[in-house]
Amino acid sequence: MMNQAWMAEQLEELKLQSQFRKIPTAQLASEASGQLIRNGQAMLNMSSNDYLGLSHHSAIAAAMEESLQADGVGAGASRLITGSSAPYAKLEAALASWHGCEAALVFGNGYMCNLGTIAALAGRGDVVLSDRLNHASIVDGIQLSRAEHVRYRHLDLGHLESLLIKHRDARRIWIVTDAIFSMDGDAAPLQELVALKQRYGAGLIVDEAHSGGIYGPQGQGLAAELGVAHAIDVHIGTFGKAFGVYGAYVAGSATLCNWLTNKARPLIYSTALPPSVVAGTLSALGIVQRERWRSERVRMAAQRFRSSLAEAEIPTIGRSDCPIVPVILGSSESALRFSQQLEQHQILAAAIRPPTVPGHTSRIRFSLSAAHSELELNQALQAIIQMAKEKEHTDE
Ligand SMILES: Cc1ncc(COP(=O)(O)O)c(C=O)c1O
Repeated sequence: MMNQAWMAEQLEELKLQSQFRKIPTAQLASEASGQLIRNGQAMLNMSSNDYLGLSHHSAIAAAMEESLQADGVGAGASRLITGSSAPYAKLEAALASWHGCEAALVFGNGYMCNLGTIAALAGRGDVVLSDRLNHASIVDGIQLSRAEHVRYRHLDLGHLESLLIKHRDARRIWIVTDAIFSMDGDAAPLQELVALKQRYGAGLIVDEAHSGGIYGPQGQGLAAELGVAHAIDVHIGTFGKAFGVYGAYVAGSATLCNWLTNKARPLIYSTALPPSVVAGTLSALGIVQRERWRSERVRMAAQRFRSSLAEAEIPTIGRSDCPIVPVILGSSESALRFSQQLEQHQILAAAIRPPTVPGHTSRIRFSLSAAHSELELNQALQAIIQMAKEKEHTDE
């Protein structure tokens, strides 16, 4: 066996920096998606991305069970080898019509979708301009593409425009952005990005992982909310967050989806999602479209949560109605300590540390869900405010 001392040493380093990660044992509560069971105790789950509270929806579970019986437990191979089972065609047609696009293509998950899509669209001679805080799967997709990877300062349109001018002779220029930034809860200026992409003839890829289901008249995402969906070249969305299930998709032109079917390696060289997951997602899409009260509820809860923290002089960042509510604490150590103290109040909210976020901006990322009751959120607020006061006291 190869000597693994180098790994052990570097893991010790991470521990010293409060950046060591391990996977805790936890179980989703069987009835309510807003709770988690850890060490036999029910905790308020403020860590997950189940923004609409769909992860325990009985209609979605029923659709999955029915498909399990009808279609089997696994896809058995890549879709290009065995073909798509019936739920795929229905889901892709529904996604295309939801986005008002010609076509849509389902991927295994959001990570593979970004990786495969960006690497298939960009290549040598191209430039990809990417917001500095874009998700790791976007960063990895660009690296894999072999295009020139240029990061612009977070949300900085002036910087982006200067880069568009600088690289105007590139074979093709792509701009890629998260619609809502996963660790900051703030929004990309999509209207302005559309104006820039049109001015400089660039392609625009928008990842709606944390905005799908929440924004837009039918939950299509932030681009639809801001009225610029028609101008986006590549819409990306995930099903593991607001949809409560698993998987991801690209929506756009038929040419784009044909290109990705031929070029996106994670789609071509990986086993397709189990048909039951696709059937569950189709059911979730219907619920996202019909039950808009879920999105209204979580957006209002986010506004209230942010303003209650502000009243208690606890600053948060992000769009006022975004269910991702980060509280910056600075060092990894203090974020980890705060998260552990929250656990003592039966609240699970993850400490987010480098390399996920830049150094000295470690934070608690409170994640709200339509599954949380008003009472649960009020109790959480009380505990957080009390803990922050105690922290201030000990810091003095
Ligand atoms: C912006 C963004 N894109 C993509 C992903 C990956 O999605 P998935 O969890 O479906 O792999 C994430 C996950 O956190 C994300 O935040």
